[in-house]
Amino acid sequence: MNKQTLNIGLFGFGCVGYGLYQVLNKTNGVQARIKKVCIKNPQKVRPVSDVDFTITASELIDDPEITIIVELTDDADAAFEIVKAALKQGKGVVTANKKMVSEHFAELLDLQKQYQLPVLYEAAACASIPIIRNLEEYYDNDTLSRIEGIVNGSTNFILSKALNEGLDFGETLSIAQSLGYAESNPSLDVDGFDAAYKLQILCAHAFGLLISASDITRIGIRSIGQEEFRYAREKGFKIKLVAQAFKTSEQSIAAFVIPKFVSAQSPLFGVDDVYNGVITETAFADRQFFSGKGAGAYPTASAVLSDISALSYNYRYEYKKIHNANATELDTDFRLQVYVRVPLELGKIAHSVFDSIDVLQQDKKGICITGLASLQRLQELSGNFQEAAIVLCDGEKTSVTTAEIQTFELSEL
Ligand code: HSE
Repeated sequence: MNKQTLNIGLFGFGCVGYGLYQVLNKTNGVQARIKKVCIKNPQKVRPVSDVDFTITASELIDDPEITIIVELTDDADAAFEIVKAALKQGKGVVTANKKMVSEHFAELLDLQKQYQLPVLYEAAACASIPIIRNLEEYYDNDTLSRIEGIVNGSTNFILSKALNEGLDFGETLSIAQSLGYAESNPSLDVDGFDAAYKLQILCAHAFGLLISASDITRIGIRSIGQEEFRYAREKGFKIKLVAQAFKTSEQSIAAFVIPKFVSAQSPLFGVDDVYNGVITETAFADRQFFSGKGAGAYPTASAVLSDISALSYNYRYEYKKIHNANATELDTDFRLQVYVRVPLELGKIAHSVFDSIDVLQQDKKGICITGLASLQRLQELSGNFQEAAIVLCDGEKTSVTTAEIQTFELSEL
């Protein structure tokens, strides 16, 4: 294989861009240098003196010496324009922009085919965990039946600090922001959008399923409160925002992002703070588990660095599972064992979401129900009522002691 020296044109010099600069300076393994960096704000003081900055994108895109564009901005629309322009000028692209990759997935496939050039985005899902290339290459022949994981570092950080140290939501979100974990718009993390973008990308590489992130049932962590943490502590669970997708038939996949009570039996139980973890289940290898830091400058830059190195070997995704049409439809007619807590006045509405109820508790603060509910109705409940705390049960049923159960008359609602 022919290894080339790469001149990089870098878009964005925020947390990850600066991280890449540092990582490139510390590694001898990749023959690459940042030739020029395009930034939005030239007034901002930068922590480096040896970098050639510009605000003009064409100085990178039109430079024949720049053979690779690394896109590390946080603007998905601008990022897509950069990728298109780069490919048109014959340059391969590395990006960490999960929103852009997710929202333009089908177009990116077409563009890569049209220009016969790669767009690599390992950093777009689970940062330092090399999950995309593994799904693409390693599990090419061993059929995947399930992928389940913690794919957002910020929410895992917030939930871990709340459960283990009793810190409150706002306080931990600020820390996650100061550490460079959270998105500029933290709603993307907290409301599960970021996890849904990542799950959409993972579904394409795991199963060949082409869907939009907006098709994925998505419930965030905003409504999880002290009652849920107390319940989790009592039962020995942790609460994690879990993205999962699994086959429900040869052609169909159920995919959703919903907080979950995770028991100590799950490998995800030990995945705390900014770490991500992904469980795969396949026909022959059975269950496997990957873990690593899921956000932050260096962990994300390490995945970008790996993609830059892969480009130097002319690596590209082949998307074989998509071309073989392995999975073609999203199964949304699916039921889950779930815990729902709502204020008293929403009791009747919450009750109507369930197909069957195992436990119903009421106290002066609200009503808590566990039972079997459909994905669609859970999504509606969460979308219409921010106060509804929704958490998946681990396993088939949550065990609640008889003493905790209060009989409850629907007519009282
Ligand atoms: N905000 C993202 C997260 C960054 O917390 O996981 C890495 O994709």
